[in-house]
Parts: sequence; structure tokens; C-alpha cells
Amino acid sequence: MAAVVAARSLARSRGFFLLPSQPGGALRPQAGVASRPGLSRGKKAALTALGALAAGGAGLALALHTAVGAFELELHPPQYPWEHGGLLKAFDHSSIRRGYEVYKQVCSACHSLQYVAFRHLIGVTHTEEEAKALAAEIQVEDGPDDEGNMFTRPGLISDYFPKPYPNPEAAKAANNGALPPDLSYIIRARHGGEDYVFSLLTGYCDPPAGVNLRGELHFNPYFPGQAIGMAAPLYNEILEFEDGTPATLSQMAKDVCTFLCWVSMPEHDTRKRMAVKALLLGGILFPLFFLFNRHKWTVLKSRQLTYQPRRK
Ligand code: HEC
Repeated sequence: MAAVVAARSLARSRGFFLLPSQPGGALRPQAGVASRPGLSRGKKAALTALGALAAGGAGLALALHTAVGAFELELHPPQYPWEHGGLLKAFDHSSIRRGYEVYKQVCSACHSLQYVAFRHLIGVTHTEEEAKALAAEIQVEDGPDDEGNMFTRPGLISDYFPKPYPNPEAAKAANNGALPPDLSYIIRARHGGEDYVFSLLTGYCDPPAGVNLRGELHFNPYFPGQAIGMAAPLYNEILEFEDGTPATLSQMAKDVCTFLCWVSMPEHDTRKRMAVKALLLGGILFPLFFLFNRHKWTVLKSRQLTYQPRRK
């Protein structure tokens, strides 16, 4: 009997109500091995208050983040329905190809694309022969040769796109002190991504009355500060597309943005395809794992511990 009393008091002190609390009550233990003692009422109230505070704080932060004040003199780009927007959409590759034409004929005069080589175009926008021909159009400095001299040779597909300026200082000097950024990651490096760059390219307009800009600056409501060092690079019909698409300003801007989007995330199409595969496979495997896990643990989870008092 002493053992039962000891066990009962131990159980009660630990919060485990394994044994009936009434002395002399039936010695049939309850099902279930242990249940964690509940939190005290004060702690529950404190936790609830903390939760409410955190939720309120997050809500306030979100409201402040999305609120637009009159002091914010910046036009946010609208969201455009991109061909590649959406979980299951891939890039429009003919648009990437036209975008490359725009980059090559217009933007490459000032902007470098230092992480793109001609070989990257193969299978995306161009065939291998086309890429070889494009690369061969440029002259690359190579060397040293056997006599220690540098020499120039026609470009190979392993060469990276040529840079318009040898160094940032030369780029600034040629652009009134403004540095044309490398466009390799520009889509990822700006808020709004391709929507922003598209709006920037198509958004040039006359400054409103009372706004005077320095001579070499141009008014663009989408650029932070509105005064940008880049003159509007695109106008209707400044080039002709190989595939005969009418080269309107918005068409060229859309295509060059799609191209820059591909440049900044060349893994985009593969990534989305992998995601679909992973979700499908996970959708099948996860429930199976769940059932398997449950099956393996049933023995332990459904066992019952009972206390058998020794008969005197
Ligand atoms: C005549 C030279 C020139 C050409 C051509 C040019 N740009 Fe620029 N670009 C600049 C300069 C200079 C800046 C830096 C502006 C500044 O910081 O005020 C710039 C900045 C930019 C920016 C960055 C804006 C930002 O938020 O910081 C983007 C994007 C851009 N150019 C895209 C293009 C695209 C796309 C083309 C081709 C359609 C192009 N540019 C053609 C000179 C040029």
C-alpha cells in the first residue's frame, strides 16, 4: 500500500494523473501515459497579449510599407501582364531574341552585360551557327602570343559581350558624370523589376511646370528623384526587327525587358519546371511518408502503461 501512496503522490506532484486521487478508489489507471500540465491562466493571458501585439505590429509595418504619402514624389510602376508572369509560365523566347536585338543596337552603346557570353544565347535565342556568327563580328584582344605581344582576333562563342567603355571612369566621362550601370542583374536589382524598367523606358515626358532640370538631366517620373542622366533611348521605329514585328516604343521596351529578365535569371524556365515536378512528386510522396511514419509509430503511440500493485 505504501508503494501506491508514494506513486500517487509522485504522480500528483509531477502533474501526471496516472492513478485515481481518491484513496481506496479503484486502482485502474487511466488511458494515456502522460499529458503536459496546462499553462497557468496568467501565462496564457500574457501569451495572447504578446501574440496580439506581434500581429498588430506586423499589420502596422505592412500598412506603413504600402502607404503612399504626398512626400513620396515617386511614381510606382504598374504591374504588367508579362508573358512569363505566373507560376506555370515560361519565357517568350522570340521576345528574348528581339530584346537582344534592341540591346545590341541601342543599349550596348552605353551599358555593358558583363556576365553574358555568346555561348549563353545558344538554345535560348540563337542556334550555334548564329551565335558563332554574332561572336565573329567583334574583335577581342587576346594574348600574349609566343613573342609576348597582345593581338586581336575575331570573337568566339566563349567570349563575353564587349563592353562599351574600358572602365567606369571613361563611362562617366562620356555620360556627363552619370555611370550607366551594368544591366546583367538590373531587373533583380531594382524594386518593381521588369515593370520598373519598362515604365522607365516608356515613361519619359516633359517636366511639370515649375520643375527645372540641369541641362544634361532628363525628366522621368519613375526614376527615384525624377532627374535621370540617361536620355530616352527608345523611340518608335528606331530599328527593324528581323522577324518583322513592328518596332514600336512599347514593343521594344517589352522585348528588351524580357531579354534583361532572362539575363538576370537564366534558370527561370528550368526552375519553374522543376517546381511543378517537385510539387507533383511531393504531393504523392508526402502523404505516403505521413502514413508510413504513422504506421511505424503506432506501436509506441498507442501503448498503455499500467501500474500493477504487487499483491501482499
Ligand atoms: C547614351 C547612353 C545610354 C543608352 C544608349 C542607354 N542608356 Fe541606360 N543609362 C545611361 C546612363 C548614363 C544611366 C545612369 C542614369 C543616372 O544614374 O542618372 C543609365 C541608367 C539606366 C538604368 C538604371 C536606372 C536606375 O534605376 O538606376 C536602366 C535600367 C537603363 N539605363 C536601361 C537602359 C536600356 C534598357 C537601354 C536600351 C534600350 C539603355 N538604358 C540605353 C545611359 C544610356
